[in-house]
Amino acid sequence: MTLLPETDRTTDHRRLLPMVGHTKAGRSPVTCHLRCGDACAQPVPNQTEGPTFRDVVEQTMSRRSVLRGMGATAAVAAIGGAGTALAPPAAAGTRPVGGAAHGTPRTSLSFIAIAPVTSTVDELTVPSGWRWDPIIRWGDPVLKGAPQFDPANQSSRAQAAQFGYNNDYLDIIVTDRRGTKALLVCNHEYTNENIMFPPGIDASEQARIAWAAHGMSVVELRRRHRGERWTYVPGARLNRRITLDTPFAVDGPAAGSPLLRTKADPTGRTVRGTMNNCAGGTTPWGSVLSGEENFNQYFKASGSTPRETRYGLSATQDSRNWRAVDPRWDATTADYANEPNRFGWIVEVDPYDPTAAPVKHTAMGRFKHEGANVIINRDGRVVAYMGDDERFDYVYRFVSKERYLPGPGSRRRKHNLKLLSQGDLSVARFTGDGLDDGVSDGSGEWIPLTRDGRSMVPGFSLEEVLVFTRLAADAVQPTKMDRPEDVQPNLANGRIYIACTNNTDRGEVGKEGPTEPNPRAANKDGHVVELIPARGDHTSTGFTWNLLLVCGDPKSAGTYFGGYTGEVSPISCPDNLAFDSRGQLWISTDGAPSTLGTNDGLFHVTLEGRDRGRVQQFLSVPTGAETCGPVVHDRDGSVFVAVQHPGEDGSWSAQKSLFPDYVTPGTTPDRGDFAGPRPSVVQATRARRR
Ligand code: FEO
Ligand code: CA
Ligand code: CA
Ligand code: CA
Repeated sequence: MTLLPETDRTTDHRRLLPMVGHTKAGRSPVTCHLRCGDACAQPVPNQTEGPTFRDVVEQTMSRRSVLRGMGATAAVAAIGGAGTALAPPAAAGTRPVGGAAHGTPRTSLSFIAIAPVTSTVDELTVPSGWRWDPIIRWGDPVLKGAPQFDPANQSSRAQAAQFGYNNDYLDIIVTDRRGTKALLVCNHEYTNENIMFPPGIDASEQARIAWAAHGMSVVELRRRHRGERWTYVPGARLNRRITLDTPFAVDGPAAGSPLLRTKADPTGRTVRGTMNNCAGGTTPWGSVLSGEENFNQYFKASGSTPRETRYGLSATQDSRNWRAVDPRWDATTADYANEPNRFGWIVEVDPYDPTAAPVKHTAMGRFKHEGANVIINRDGRVVAYMGDDERFDYVYRFVSKERYLPGPGSRRRKHNLKLLSQGDLSVARFTGDGLDDGVSDGSGEWIPLTRDGRSMVPGFSLEEVLVFTRLAADAVQPTKMDRPEDVQPNLANGRIYIACTNNTDRGEVGKEGPTEPNPRAANKDGHVVELIPARGDHTSTGFTWNLLLVCGDPKSAGTYFGGYTGEVSPISCPDNLAFDSRGQLWISTDGAPSTLGTNDGLFHVTLEGRDRGRVQQFLSVPTGAETCGPVVHDRDGSVFVAVQHPGEDGSWSAQKSLFPDYVTPGTTPDRGDFAGPRPSVVQATRARRR
């Protein structure tokens, strides 16, 4: 059995990890092999003939260019106080939208935007007058009795009690009125075996360590008073590790379906573990949702049926060769043919109860879930917005059947924790253009896939719609999007923001060309769509939309910054979104090294007033890393990011012509006792604070 042969690890990883994405002409030099199974180098899973709107695209873009006026240049500009402030949002999504939530905005963050940092600079950069500190890093002890991180002698047992790898989604949930206690909840999306392990670790143990390094973490934070930086508490009561071995309950209409049964689980109701958890969202009732994204890459499958190919399952995807350790990763066998169907869900975790089994919500559909973010509609129903992060895939909406019960009490909480178990799933079709100029303005509709517990797609049973959601959606012709990542409602203004990260295949021969909501061919920089529910009702069929940002170097043709014509920071590949207390948008990026030649970062975007569309960079992460999970506690003067896959490769490997490994890592971002790269959750605060 061989997983990562030592000879390959210590000599030339290109033999083991062929980095298909590097060799295809025109592809960006990012490591995709362990992240998403080289998704962008695989055939586009969506081969359907969806609707196209090419006719008016050129017209749209030319009108946009006129509106934009002269190109802007990279910014060094101050923010804080400019523009029209939005009403402050309710805390953590607890206030229904539609009713007024007005008040006097309190102090927002102010900072001097940093200049873009070249992608060879191996540093985390914050604005002048700010500092950064890690809160917790890969391998730090989480559970009681967990050993200190010792990467040279790592074991699966140790890893299962320590902070996992590649932190992605992040929230910092303050849990007391004094502001001295908080819960850090975090996803661990995937593992970079090549830089995690020293030579000599047994291959099967390596796999088990990786299973334990996936999943999620819940960690208690403390500080003595407001204004102090947070520290984490090893072994605290609510600390939890969720891994690829944690039992999950399956709920919703497809629970128990024959499509979900395997030899190890003939009931189809209990799944072992979660994985490739990308983004997520925190609910008003205090649970955390997490999206299972590129699950296909862990399985060997026949790849011979649409139910497999539409999800990217194939005979060549299992780069980690886990099936050599556990047969469940081999979907070519009758025993485990359905194991891939048990991933690709939205999972819900109650961070206040370490003993509660996390839940996989079948009612919310199965696809490559980036994440899910909820808002309470004015009628009390819960509405979740979700993206399927694949080239030419779709944006989805879930509306709960039952209504949210606000207020304290275990009965209410129990009720709310079931809200995502039943409801209606729909998928978005966009029409019109993305300019609010009175000419063919953007509109759209939510096309139902399920309603009142029934399938709305001819030829698909309810279970089939939920387990093979991509195929069901294809049948109703939604709009193919450019890899929708975070799809997040803004609690301050009730609008939804969609980060389409990029799609270099758009417009390639045989593939769909530009459309109004995806306005560029060979879209390497991505864009952000703003969606507005009809009548402010998140359950309505109709919506309007516009393009907020068409990202890139502001000097480049075709970029657009919400009509703002002053200086802006270059921004590329928007991925995760967050809002501050004023409802202003923050965007973290994943891909700038290969498009702009700069490190990825965190950006503030003004949404209202004459500065709408103004982009200002707050932070930049080290070489090879992406910026994930931004959390902005502007009233507290704190910004948090998850620094994911530092030193993975990117420009570092291009420079050194070598895939980085444990011995020669690509970066050392943690300032700590371990010289190697270490994914970390970082807080940025004013330098003068304690
Ligand atoms: Fe894991 Fe869609 O990024
Ligand atoms: Ca228009
Ligand atoms: Ca992401
Ligand atoms: Ca990402």
